[in-house]
Amino acid sequence: MTIRVRIGDIRIGEEETASVLESLAEGRLSEGRKTREFEKRWARYIGKKLCVALNSGSSALLAGLHALIHDDRRPKIRPGCKVITSPVTYAATSNAIVLAGMEPVYVDIDPCTFTLDVNRVEDALRGDRKGHALILPVHLMGYVNDMDALNGLASRYGLSVFEDAAQAHGSLYRGRKAGSLSDLAGHSFYIAHNIQVGEMGAVVTDDDALARLIRRIKANGRRCDCRICTRSAGTCPFRGAEYDPRFTHDLVGFNFKTSELHAAIAIPQVERAGAIIRARQHNVRTLNERLEPFSEIFQLPVFSDEVSYLAYPLVVRDPKWSREKIMASLERSGVETRPLFGCIPTQQPAYRHLKERYEGRLPRAEFVGANGFYIGCHQYLESADLDCVEEAFRSLVRKGP
Ligand SMILES: Cc1ncc(COP(=O)(O)O)c(C=O)c1O
Repeated sequence: MTIRVRIGDIRIGEEETASVLESLAEGRLSEGRKTREFEKRWARYIGKKLCVALNSGSSALLAGLHALIHDDRRPKIRPGCKVITSPVTYAATSNAIVLAGMEPVYVDIDPCTFTLDVNRVEDALRGDRKGHALILPVHLMGYVNDMDALNGLASRYGLSVFEDAAQAHGSLYRGRKAGSLSDLAGHSFYIAHNIQVGEMGAVVTDDDALARLIRRIKANGRRCDCRICTRSAGTCPFRGAEYDPRFTHDLVGFNFKTSELHAAIAIPQVERAGAIIRARQHNVRTLNERLEPFSEIFQLPVFSDEVSYLAYPLVVRDPKWSREKIMASLERSGVETRPLFGCIPTQQPAYRHLKERYEGRLPRAEFVGANGFYIGCHQYLESADLDCVEEAFRSLVRKGP
């Protein structure tokens, strides 16, 4: 059977098309007016003062970490420092930490919301005081970490906090949006996310110095950091200098700039974010009702109207059932599936050097990593698609493990 219920779907609407055509008509492909407009709107949407657009969520994390390293006000954050983070996440989170020269420290998660277990974070800090500089929680599948508790620990131990909000566009925590709850946050607008651009990311922050550093780091560490280049208007702050600041590099950076066309696609979607989130919540609520008879086999997702769901995550809790067989059966019935990432230090081959150190120490993360998977709950699903999901599960259970 062909796949009917995908993890995500994309419909390029008239507004997105018109927005891209405007950029093309302006002859603008690299960052320009649309990128600046997107940054303004995304910062406003999240509830932060500043947003810097980048070419991916991975770049947002890596540029953010490098900015923290270069920020003189944070002497603890430097290559070799420890970053407390989640073991159950897309590889980009851990990869960014390692690529910034830092050491990820994994603590176990809450098995239902996949968020950091605050008690385990505190144990890690109490047990080993040396070298900890940062907490990097991941709001996986849209579930927001207990940020009051994490920020409390951070201020007690003198740490910074950087949210990986890649998967939580518009999720709420005590009335505030994911990404607005710490020093800085990274978002991803990858194709499967709620705001879908293909490849784009952003960092949001209230901290002007951090935003300026990120603007420089994403442009190969160049000297200047204006939001809009004023050189051709003759008002460049470096106009008297004997060098061109765009080609003078004080930092070693990356090319993480985004493209104007991607920003053009994002803008209309930011305006529709509320409707996208509500449609996904409706689908999660409906699927929870329909799949409730099977809740002894599967842990169903916790429902909350504060969560902006990236997908519909399930964890196989009955040991008689195999996740791989379940996923294969659902796919045969037309429902696309994905594994829930795997526990980074013990189940991801790139991190096998950490396996011995962590094996057995993250039991909930390892269980979720081995038994978790997700299906789509996206905004384009119709009632007949939800029927298809229900029937796929009924047929699976009828056949037995
Ligand atoms: C939790 C998390 N962090 C970071 C990223 C990286 O984002 P990107 O794919 O845009 O590089 C992703 C991507 O899906 C993610 O899920």
